Amino acid sequence: STEFTCRICCLGAGYVGGPTMTVIAKMCPDIKVTVCDLSERRIAAWNSKSLPIYEPGLQEIVEGARGKNLFFSTDIDAAVREADIIFVSVNTPTKKSGIGAGQAADLQYWELAGRHIASIAEGPKIIVEKSTVPVKTAAAMARVLESNSKFAFEVLSNPEFLAEGTAVEDLLRPDRVLVGGEQTPAGLAAIDKLANIYRRWVPTEKVLTTNLWSAELSKLTANAFLAQRISSINSISALCENTGADVDEVAHAIGVDSRIGPKFLRASVGFGGSCFQKDILNLVYLCRSFGLPEVANYWEAVITMNNWQKQRFAEKMVSAMFNTVSGKKIAVLGFAFKKDTGDTRETPAIHVCEQMIKEGAALSIYDPKVTVEQMNYDLGSPSPDKVCMEQDAYVACAGAHAIAVLTEWDEFKTLDYSRIYTSMVKPCFVFDGRNILDHAKLRQIGFQVFAIGKSF
Ligand code: NAD
Ligand code: UGA
Repeated sequence: STEFTCRICCLGAGYVGGPTMTVIAKMCPDIKVTVCDLSERRIAAWNSKSLPIYEPGLQEIVEGARGKNLFFSTDIDAAVREADIIFVSVNTPTKKSGIGAGQAADLQYWELAGRHIASIAEGPKIIVEKSTVPVKTAAAMARVLESNSKFAFEVLSNPEFLAEGTAVEDLLRPDRVLVGGEQTPAGLAAIDKLANIYRRWVPTEKVLTTNLWSAELSKLTANAFLAQRISSINSISALCENTGADVDEVAHAIGVDSRIGPKFLRASVGFGGSCFQKDILNLVYLCRSFGLPEVANYWEAVITMNNWQKQRFAEKMVSAMFNTVSGKKIAVLGFAFKKDTGDTRETPAIHVCEQMIKEGAALSIYDPKVTVEQMNYDLGSPSPDKVCMEQDAYVACAGAHAIAVLTEWDEFKTLDYSRIYTSMVKPCFVFDGRNILDHAKLRQIGFQVFAIGKSF
């Protein structure tokens, strides 16, 4: 129809593409937004009652705009042809083999998307990097586009800072939106066109514009700084356990210093999620390839500390339970990498569960949002007598020797732990990998309690 003032499309209907485009559609009813994916299953889910991802508040917004100015489609060609602005929000995982395996970003989906756009575009377009990519990727993309099409393309970098579980809130009220582009008249005009879309609901001073490389590097840097805070407090948690200091008290005491700030100082079993590790490895690889090994080693330590924290937690479980968990049932509460999401990518729960399985424990896992299929997949389809997934926390805990809290779901705080205690094998252990439970109360009930950065 002709009432739309602008048409945009997005390649990649994942955790980023889906929510980002949905919020643009909600805030700009005059813009036609089409979200495309190669996966028919994913698109069918976006068009159904059960969306492929869970985000608080997302369902309502999708249902409000879908079929009006928000469309989910596998017809990439049609969407690209009619769009003025094309977002590329495809996956950019860590390379599994070849040069840079285990560190560098795998840009094959990115480049394929670029080639595809160039092959079907029938006019000039603005291409927006939404995926997290290494610095200088926009230059490669511009080359690919230029060499495969006779039309002019402007490539912008518009990295996404949303966190899972709060995606809608983060998109509606972002701390900032970042748009980088070439500092040429055409580049600046493209920056302005995209920035103006965000300015419809984001205060102008929060819409930052930079050159391309600053935008690309800011995304990697933001994630590196965030993850570094977690590794820093986690490193201190180990010291707390040995000294009688309490990591939550330390975090509070340093966080009230306005120069440090209170956020992202929650000690934990380790950070997970699809991006922190991937993006830091990507940064490390970039530094090495630019001949900066000191910088690479500096950031790599954030990952090393995180791996150690996960391993340390698993070892603590075994040593506390008299150096053997063989044949013991362990209830795992929480499997997602954080609360309010069903996402399990790089969740520390995978590492802890694998270690327990290796030690011969039997696991019963409960997570309110992760599907049984997903957990089975993540743990390599373990035999049902080794691992069972329960639909209820009380059932998971019954008959167990220990409880391990691996995700900070709110509902775990209000379980009836006296009831759970009665149903368990004595002595009963709790390993609180998220420091969310009332430890004094648990100890009063009779539990032997272990928490991050605490010595009882
Ligand atoms: P995802 O795996 O959930 O989604 C990517 C989608 O792209 C998949 O559904 C895939 O089928 C599709 N795809 C691949 N190639 C395609 C093509 N040529 N055409 C159309 N679709 C194609 O990934 P995600 O979590 O949404 O992340 C996407 C990017 O955003 C990554 O670079 C990631 O680093 C970055 N990012 C993610 C988050 C997050 O919270 N998950 C936050 C900020 C940035
Ligand atoms: C993170 C960033 O917060 C987003 O800004 C960014 O856009 C995104 O990565 C990305 O690029 O993908 P996300 O991974 O969704 O978002 O979730 P976070 O809230 O950052 O949590 C990451 C991990 O750190 C989780 O496992 C969480 O439990 C852990 N964490 C977080 C802690 O252990 N302690 C804290 O204080 C905070």
